[in-house]
Amino acid sequence: MKRAMITGWGRCMPEPTVTNDDLASVIDTSDEWIATRSGIRQRRVSHVDNSDMAAVASRHALAAAGLEATDLDYILVATCTPDRFIPAMACHLQAKLGAVNAAATDTNAGCTGFIYGLNLAAGLIATGSARRILLLGSERLTPYLDLNNRDTAVLFGDGSGAVIIEASETDEGIQSINVGSDGNLAGALTIEGAGSSWMDIPSPVQVVMDGREVFRNAVVGMVAAADKALADAGWSIDDVDLLIPHQANIRIIDATTKRLGIDPDKVYTNIDAYGNTSAATIPIALSEAIDKGRLKPGAKLVLVAFGAGLTWGATAIQWGQRVEPKSTSDAALPPSERTGIEIMVDRQRARYG
Ligand code: UT7
Repeated sequence: MKRAMITGWGRCMPEPTVTNDDLASVIDTSDEWIATRSGIRQRRVSHVDNSDMAAVASRHALAAAGLEATDLDYILVATCTPDRFIPAMACHLQAKLGAVNAAATDTNAGCTGFIYGLNLAAGLIATGSARRILLLGSERLTPYLDLNNRDTAVLFGDGSGAVIIEASETDEGIQSINVGSDGNLAGALTIEGAGSSWMDIPSPVQVVMDGREVFRNAVVGMVAAADKALADAGWSIDDVDLLIPHQANIRIIDATTKRLGIDPDKVYTNIDAYGNTSAATIPIALSEAIDKGRLKPGAKLVLVAFGAGLTWGATAIQWGQRVEPKSTSDAALPPSERTGIEIMVDRQRARYG
């Protein structure tokens, strides 16, 4: 069976930026609290649809792989914040890209969505059902934040990351991948007020989270998933050149790093700049790490995530020799007329008066 490998990568971060001090001007919080409890210093707020960010990230990924949109035979979007419930966001994205030869669908595993997406993509490649897959982790979470709820309003941000998955001609690519879920802990992290359960009970839409419960399970779940990915690949932790964990909280990342026994210099973090962008954190970080020269040719890469469900997953990837894009794209979002905090405050007023 063919292994799946990542041959293109790209990201789109909307320009409007909200600092902790911006939030502290409208919420009872402080830069000090947010930075020490979570590691977040600022986040991006999208002024466009999730699928608009996804289209920009996708164009960069296609260019990096040297492909045209019409070469794609499958588009899979990992998201919990699609433009609409129907149709799948992947269909909007398909139209924006002109990817007329592709099947298109979404998958939702909360913050673990990108690893679930990789798992599905690897299966499509292995069975020959698809040959050139566009996979995204893409989220527009800030519309779900309630500025009256400081527990969650300070943690999340918007952004999109894309990869191209193709069949490997060698033994490089995904060496192992595992995903899991415990639905008994579904209540620990939910979006309330949106979905068919709420149609008879009008209710404000908001993220609801038991932060401590999620935190505890995140560390245990990410360590177990990464350990399994390593064992299944026949690697030890010392073999790993770069670990990209889900970016939810720097303290979760630090505790996971310590328990795995990996050198912190091998762990990529960017939570300070973007906050938690759910399923988008890993593909955004991957594309950034490559651009910054953090992923070397032939590197052994581990990706690990944890999120709503509760879900978890990890993969061990033997990277090829190419860490340069085959080509580049100048795709970008239009400028925003409002600042990030203006977007958030206007939205809050429209919703709650
Ligand atoms: O991607 C997966 C999804 N999310 C996660 O993985 C998040 C997991 N959990 C976490 O990251 C952390 O639990 C949080 C960052 C959410 C919270 O950190 P914590 O150290 O667990 O804080 P806490 O919940 O124990 O709250 C401590 C205090 C409370 O005050 P009291 O009751 O001790 O007086 C909160 O009311 O901090 C207060 N607090 C705040 N204070 C200032 C909560 N949010 C804020 C805030 N600013 N934004």
